Amino acid sequence: MLSPLLIILSIVAFVVHTLRHALSSPLNKIPGPWYAKFTSLVLKWNEFRANRTQYIHDLHLNYGPSVRIAPREVAFASAAAVKEIYCSGGSGYDKTEFYDMFRVYGRRTMFTTLNKDDHAKRKRIIADRYANTNIVRSPSLDGIAEGASNFVKRCFQSIGGSLDLYVRLHSYAFDCVTHHLFHPHGADSLLSSKDEEIMREVTFDDSLQNRLFQHYWPTAHKILGRILYMFAKPRETPLADKFVLDTCAQTDTTPFTLLNRLQNPSYNLDHTDVAAECLDHMAAGIDTTGDALCFLMWELSQPSSLHYQRKLQEELLANPGASFDKLPYLDAVVMEGLRCFPAIPMSLPRYVPCGGRTVDVFFLPAGTIVSCQAYSVHRIDRSVFPNPDAFNPDRWLEEKGDPERKRLFFAFANGGRGCVGKHLALAEMKMLLQAVYSRFTTLPDAAMAPEELGMSDQLISSRPAGQRCLLQFIPLDAVTGE
Ligand code: HEM
Repeated sequence: MLSPLLIILSIVAFVVHTLRHALSSPLNKIPGPWYAKFTSLVLKWNEFRANRTQYIHDLHLNYGPSVRIAPREVAFASAAAVKEIYCSGGSGYDKTEFYDMFRVYGRRTMFTTLNKDDHAKRKRIIADRYANTNIVRSPSLDGIAEGASNFVKRCFQSIGGSLDLYVRLHSYAFDCVTHHLFHPHGADSLLSSKDEEIMREVTFDDSLQNRLFQHYWPTAHKILGRILYMFAKPRETPLADKFVLDTCAQTDTTPFTLLNRLQNPSYNLDHTDVAAECLDHMAAGIDTTGDALCFLMWELSQPSSLHYQRKLQEELLANPGASFDKLPYLDAVVMEGLRCFPAIPMSLPRYVPCGGRTVDVFFLPAGTIVSCQAYSVHRIDRSVFPNPDAFNPDRWLEEKGDPERKRLFFAFANGGRGCVGKHLALAEMKMLLQAVYSRFTTLPDAAMAPEELGMSDQLISSRPAGQRCLLQFIPLDAVTGE
């Protein structure tokens, strides 16, 4: 039995240690709420409530572009900080153990490697599969075109009612990504009725609290595991796991796919490594592109944005058959969509390297956790993004301020660890919007409440809170009366 005296002494020792550390920390000169000097509990509380992004953004609005958010953690929102943290030395500072939560089949993938050298090795194998030249080669684009055409069929079928974009866009992203990763010789498509079940398993995931608890308090998680499962489910994706393990066992793969590259014997990757990398890209490519398109199409359908939708339609109708990457207004709409609703709006945490570094004007000791979040980087500097909360694609067409806007565009992160799937994602987004808005006007369904499209943070990405998005599709010839 612990004696009461021992308990009191332990508490006193803990308080004295925390106070000493808090009062002598070199981070004390960084603005922030008083409690961030002593505890990370408020930050964690907001993470558990799926509200981390907005919490940090509110701190930026109160304290400026550099803000201390926990005893050892600082958030930044300036272009200079983005450059220092994510681009110095090519791929910026090393990732923190936060990324352990994303390990697949117990293995590290390109996304979850923590240090530069391991990352560079894996990236040398993978990068060329995602280069723009590989994406715009017809086999890859064929998969996206087929997905967009299936989506348009669903839009036509929904006329007179509504379509749940959330489900359909995630299915579309699933089709595009699996085509890019696995498309086998001779088969037109991998699509089957099973695919929607797999997509649902990956997308409708309720494991946020369980995974955070396990990450922050692993011992308590082990002890309380079973009780915890009653309130917070663990992440379980048996269908997706099996699908990827089985698919990665095939040997007859098409040259442009990621699987084909990873199976090259000279890279020495075993079956589990290959499957882990592929499952990781599947997860990275479904929710991001699906959520980004969902938020964007919802916004374009609002009365306040219908004139932007009209301009987009005019450009598409004036340029039938134009390539998706030759349409400036479509590009502006996608950039503004990703600025306002970046699918990964949250902090991307990194460790300050040995010797410490200066970020903005603050010297930070080695081991400090630093991060930027796209949601704030895209809003904080009003001289670059005036009226930052307003959706306004036209801002991307102004020549003045173009370099500054691009410098602050952080939706795909930056530097050597930025999104490798960026060109694929942009092709998917643009081809789908081109296919839809050259045929339809979209309007919100009356059954939708605006809160359903509020941001709900997951571990690193943010999804629409209601996980549904009902839109009506009105054919353009019906609107113009042709
Ligand atoms: C709109 C869609 C997308 C957005 C907004 C997005 C955003 C991002 C961001 C911000 C990162 C950096 C994360 C970090 O540092 O923690 C990232 C990394 C990554 N993304 Fe994407 N992504 C998108 C689509 C895709 C797609 C379609 C794929 C592949 C199929 C993909 C695969 C990856 C991978 C593998 C990484 C890790 C890169 C590395 O560590 O070198 N992403 N993405």
